[in-house]
Amino acid sequence: LPLEMLQSAGTGPLYVKLRQTLEEAIRSGRLGQGDALPPERDLAEYANISRVTVRKAVDDLVKDGLLVRRQGSGTFVVKPVSRVQQRLTRLTSFTEDMVRRGLKTRSEWLERGLFHPSPEEMMMLGVKADAYVARLGRLRIADDMPLAIERASLVAEFLPDPASVTSSLYAELDKTNSRPVRAIQRISASNLKNPDAAMLGVSPGAAGLSIERVSYLASGRVIEFTRSVYRGDAYDFVAELTLAE
Ligand code: GLP
Repeated sequence: LPLEMLQSAGTGPLYVKLRQTLEEAIRSGRLGQGDALPPERDLAEYANISRVTVRKAVDDLVKDGLLVRRQGSGTFVVKPVSRVQQRLTRLTSFTEDMVRRGLKTRSEWLERGLFHPSPEEMMMLGVKADAYVARLGRLRIADDMPLAIERASLVAEFLPDPASVTSSLYAELDKTNSRPVRAIQRISASNLKNPDAAMLGVSPGAAGLSIERVSYLASGRVIEFTRSVYRGDAYDFVAELTLAE
């Protein structure tokens, strides 16, 4: 950082000049995303200015969202959440989507077992009240970032032992040739409320994408009804559009 220049460069308060120098370094990438800022003490000494001046400049950049202070470990250049892009027209599983991007996935289980269906499940899955449905509720995590909360209900006939699903549901269904081949998916905007917001690590009211999927087997039978909510700041759907004939 060209801090030696501060004392001589132009007029105006020193902290403003320092702020501009740091801002320039961040925008140009000389201070990269996630990099630690040198300790304020060192900056002050090196630029021959007071620590109060350094603190003021850093405070400004924290307020602007360019830097973040982490208790006990220092000040860092903010790293924006990387967004996951998902093609709109492929019937893939969460695990496949993430693996293709080189992200490591895991889930925290919220629910996993056989239950009698709710009225909604009866309607969506076409099952009777005395039948069973397999419910899989998961917080889905990609590279340690909670990305979605997903609640899947399946006709129990196709997943008689929900505990057999340890990582990928679709991989498990593949084993018995009951992986869905077609699905209707609905995506709508939502605001995340607690407890979902807290589980996803965002503030209540943050933007979310609600996704409902109804999946069918090759025979035409419904097998799955899933409701999920994705973090709006981390997930994009991308569609290829072609000119209508
Ligand atoms: C996606 C779909 C869900 C489906 C899930 C299976 O997230 N929205 O409807 O149940 O993939 O994922 P996996 O095989 O990783 O458990």
